[in-house]
Amino acid sequence: MRARYPGHVVSIRAEQAEDAPAIRHVHEQAFGQPAEAAVVDRLRQTCKDSLSLVADDGAVVGHILFTPVEIEGAERRIAGMALAPMAVHPDHQRQGVGSQLVRGGLDILRGRGCPFAIVVGHPEYYRRFGFEPASRHGLVSQWEGMPDEVFMALILDAPAMTGISGTARYREEFDGL
Ligand SMILES: CC(C)(COP(=O)(O)OP(=O)(O)OC[C@H]1O[C@@H](n2cnc3c(N)ncnc32)[C@H](O)[C@@H]1OP(=O)(O)O)[C@@H](O)C(=O)NCCC(=O)NCCS
Repeated sequence: MRARYPGHVVSIRAEQAEDAPAIRHVHEQAFGQPAEAAVVDRLRQTCKDSLSLVADDGAVVGHILFTPVEIEGAERRIAGMALAPMAVHPDHQRQGVGSQLVRGGLDILRGRGCPFAIVVGHPEYYRRFGFEPASRHGLVSQWEGMPDEVFMALILDAPAMTGISGTARYREEFDGL
């Protein structure tokens, strides 16, 4: 699909098998450490329900991953998706590539009927996509001491989320990240 968002327009497409080395490189360069790239590599093997998108500008310049999360303690079982990690190669940052990845991913999740998305990140950045502190929706982080404003949620299907509250549980591959 061709992105329809402003800025430097790149193609947002599903990850293909041959993208793995380029995705690893983007994360290592963006984060300046190998930990996030390693989690992405691990999840590729262990989690078949992820949504993994790349920003393609002739080469892979950005990557975003969404993985399933469950709300523990909710009255009924409900699963959503967690945005993490996301990275844009430093040479391509601040050109709207990250925003295209987020919006492209959220569009797909909406289309699939995903009830909510959560993210741990910079409030100013994620607010522009509609994320709010998750506590406003009764969702609590599994990580103790997480500041309220950095643990955010975006409700995609409000009726499905009615009456839901509890602790959002990421996949165990994220433990220690
Ligand atoms: C966060 C990241 C993916 C954003 O990608 P990007 O392509 O630069 O994002 P966009 O161009 O769509 O948006 C840039 C905007 O985000 C803001 N922004 C970028 N990083 C930010 C940060 N750490 N805190 C707050 N705002 C930030 C910029 O101020 C900019 O705002 P502006 O457009 O008003 O100037 C990229 O900076 C990155 O890879 N960072 C390192 C890895 C990381 O922190 N990943 C996110 C956590 S999983």
